[in-house]
Amino acid sequence: MAKKVTTKTFMKKKESGEKITAVTSYDYSFTRLIDESGIDMILVGDSLGMMIQGHSSTIPVTMDEMIYHSRIVARANPSCMIVTDMPFLSYQAEVSEAVINAGLLLKEGFGEAVKLEGGADVAEKIDAITRAGIPVQGHIGLTPQSVHQMGGFRVQRDEDRIVNDAHAVEEAGAFSVVLEGIPSHIAKRVTKELKIPTIGIGAGVDCDGQILVMHDLLGLNRGHVPKFAKKFSNLGDLAVEAFAQYAKDVKEGKFPGEEHSY
Ligand code: KIV
Repeated sequence: MAKKVTTKTFMKKKESGEKITAVTSYDYSFTRLIDESGIDMILVGDSLGMMIQGHSSTIPVTMDEMIYHSRIVARANPSCMIVTDMPFLSYQAEVSEAVINAGLLLKEGFGEAVKLEGGADVAEKIDAITRAGIPVQGHIGLTPQSVHQMGGFRVQRDEDRIVNDAHAVEEAGAFSVVLEGIPSHIAKRVTKELKIPTIGIGAGVDCDGQILVMHDLLGLNRGHVPKFAKKFSNLGDLAVEAFAQYAKDVKEGKFPGEEHSY
């Protein structure tokens, strides 16, 4: 079994320049496959609202749903680190509520860290959660829970704001920060200025690591695939072919054969 990845591994990789690899997962079976691949971090992302539940944004996802998916990911007992997303409205309103909900994602969801969206505006919450002994990953730039405020899933280009947010997240105690949907030169600057690792998604090649949504990476997403998401496989097409072949064999009486019968 590979060595368990922790927040310390993240810092070591930042110092040595070795890239950090991360992908989303929402269940037991895929988590086992991801762990076999040697990837460093699994994000139980609230993108499950779109990839698993079919919503058009992450906003409807609840704490109970995040706990459920985090638990079934954790049941695979992976060597990679499990970071669980804090869903919309689980941390925005009150510091104490943010700490309790972050704690529940560890206590009942068996996550090993939490991720929450926002920069300077959520620094107080990051500080309180980390002081409760819970590692926090920040998430700045394009923050999907603010889709209506941003006027859509748009690339964020306000360099001063992004740099300020990055420093606020680091100073509040986050162990790493996701940079989503920002120009590469801003991500490069942030990565150079911060002591904590940056994990990019649509933020260019100079981040300390990269993350992708599993369904985009595997070609399972039949909806809109963003420009930054490279398809490393075409599992969606392979699945359709397999279902169609199965249906054909059943209709033609070719399945089950002798070898599948008792
Ligand atoms: O929920 C998610 O999948 C995410 C990634 C896009 C970083 O937050």
